[in-house]
Amino acid sequence: MTIYLNGQYLPIEEAKISVLDRGFIFGDGVYEVIPVYSRKAFRLDGHLQRLQHSLDGIKLDNPHSNAAWTRIINELIARNAGEDQYLYLHITRGVAKRDHAFPNPPVAPTVFVMSNPLLTPPAELLHSGVCAISAQDNRWLRCDIKAIALLPNVLLRQMAVDAGCAETILIRAGTGGEEAFMTEGAASNIFVVKNGKLLAPPKDHLMLPGITYDVILEIASTNGIPHEVRRIAAAEIFAADELLLTSSTKEVLAITTLDGKPVGTGKPGQLFSKLHALYQDFKRDVMRAK
Ligand code: PDD
Repeated sequence: MTIYLNGQYLPIEEAKISVLDRGFIFGDGVYEVIPVYSRKAFRLDGHLQRLQHSLDGIKLDNPHSNAAWTRIINELIARNAGEDQYLYLHITRGVAKRDHAFPNPPVAPTVFVMSNPLLTPPAELLHSGVCAISAQDNRWLRCDIKAIALLPNVLLRQMAVDAGCAETILIRAGTGGEEAFMTEGAASNIFVVKNGKLLAPPKDHLMLPGITYDVILEIASTNGIPHEVRRIAAAEIFAADELLLTSSTKEVLAITTLDGKPVGTGKPGQLFSKLHALYQDFKRDVMRAK
């Protein structure tokens, strides 16, 4: 496996970073996960735009132009095996003596990109759906930044794994008498289907603006699927006809059990089947057009 580290393409075994890297010491960095289909990065513009948003959010200069990122990404795809890959791209504030404050003058950031095989969900999972649990969203108030400091997400997702489930749906406590509401999954975005309508929470500072989320809403618009973007009360996820999970690596999956109870009929619903099929068509069309 060949990785990219600070300007060099190297076998992963030869890639080394300092123990003083601020990513290692403070989790001071941001990342992206980009799916690659037929050796082409999917929705690269959207991922690079979100990367810029994350870098702005942590006040770190972007080390590369979009043209330079595109060259690095395409070179890494070419140097790795497999038609379908996923890229993990990671930038930290670099190596400096341990001090919470930013290094002054700034030091060179650490830039790391690796490729892994993309294993989209197998047919069995598409047919059965997955189970989820709910838990209180105890993360910070800048969940729109794709920060490498993922300890809350790690602990929340492990709760699902310990319960034999695939994902934890996060519920943010309301403030000032406001009802509790659903934000997203520990590592995915969540959609609700009720009475034939697709409901999505608004992209704000309490959730990661998913690239797959955008694609799903675009597909809903172009195919005349009724949809609405609005805050979703926690109670609505327990009364949903269908629940869907989206991410770059899972694409779209049906959640068929929540906290041990069936969601709707307990089987993947009609809107899931439709959106999943449309997502596959969309992918194929975009890749063919490139
Ligand atoms: N995570 N919300 C969170 C908290 C996520 O970690 C992710 C994806 C998403 C979905 O975003 P997108 O559709 O752009 O992948 C939403 C990636 C896959 C990860 O950390 O591995």
